[in-house]
Amino acid sequence: MQTVSYNRKYNRKNFSCGKPPLDNYILKNATKDVKAGACTCFVILNGQEEVVAYYTLSTESIPKEDAPSEFKKTIKYESIPVILLGRLARDNSVKGQGYGRFMLIEALKRSVSVAKEHIGAVAVIVDPIDEEAISYYSKYGFTMLPDSGRMFMSIKKIEEALNLADGKSDT
Ligand SMILES: CC(C)(COP(=O)(O)OP(=O)(O)OC[C@H]1O[C@@H](n2cnc3c(N)ncnc32)[C@H](O)[C@@H]1OP(=O)(O)O)[C@@H](O)C(=O)NCCC(=O)NCCS
Repeated sequence: MQTVSYNRKYNRKNFSCGKPPLDNYILKNATKDVKAGACTCFVILNGQEEVVAYYTLSTESIPKEDAPSEFKKTIKYESIPVILLGRLARDNSVKGQGYGRFMLIEALKRSVSVAKEHIGAVAVIVDPIDEEAISYYSKYGFTMLPDSGRMFMSIKKIEEALNLADGKSDT
């Protein structure tokens, strides 16, 4: 399994993950957003160059008062820099085959790399589309932020989770 950067030439006509806003996004909005620099988009293709899975990443900030208490002490500014995993979806043709997990882990690895080596950020946040998505992200360690409906996972916690997943735990 591998992702490639989004390109409008890839076939998206039949993409269906069961959530219309996410189907419409890859069909109608991804090209504009990527062109405008509003996000990056990574896709998995099948043998026919059809998009069977995708996710998007962008920079974002959240008000300091919404952040978990540990960051209220350490960050002096009114807003806290984070990375937004805006969308994550796979086509029903590849349901339950690990595409979601593969993309989520890759998105988190990219985020850690950016946050540690390139552009400061304290966490990855996600915009879960519904209760099912909340349950999915909770499973991986994301927690709800107050009011916004968004979920949060600190870069530190992501690093720990990724090290455990790679079997690199010190314990
Ligand atoms: C969420 C989504 C990307 C998961 O992709 P997937 O490829 O079907 O799932 P995976 O095969 O990667 O599943 C990974 C694990 O998560 C579990 N899982 C899947 N959906 C889950 C849910 N809603 N709640 C809890 N766990 C879930 C799987 O059982 C699996 O667990 P296991 O490894 O212990 O067996 C996919 O269901 C999807 O595209 N949904 C529609 C779009 C959406 O809701 N996106 C997320 C919010 S923006």
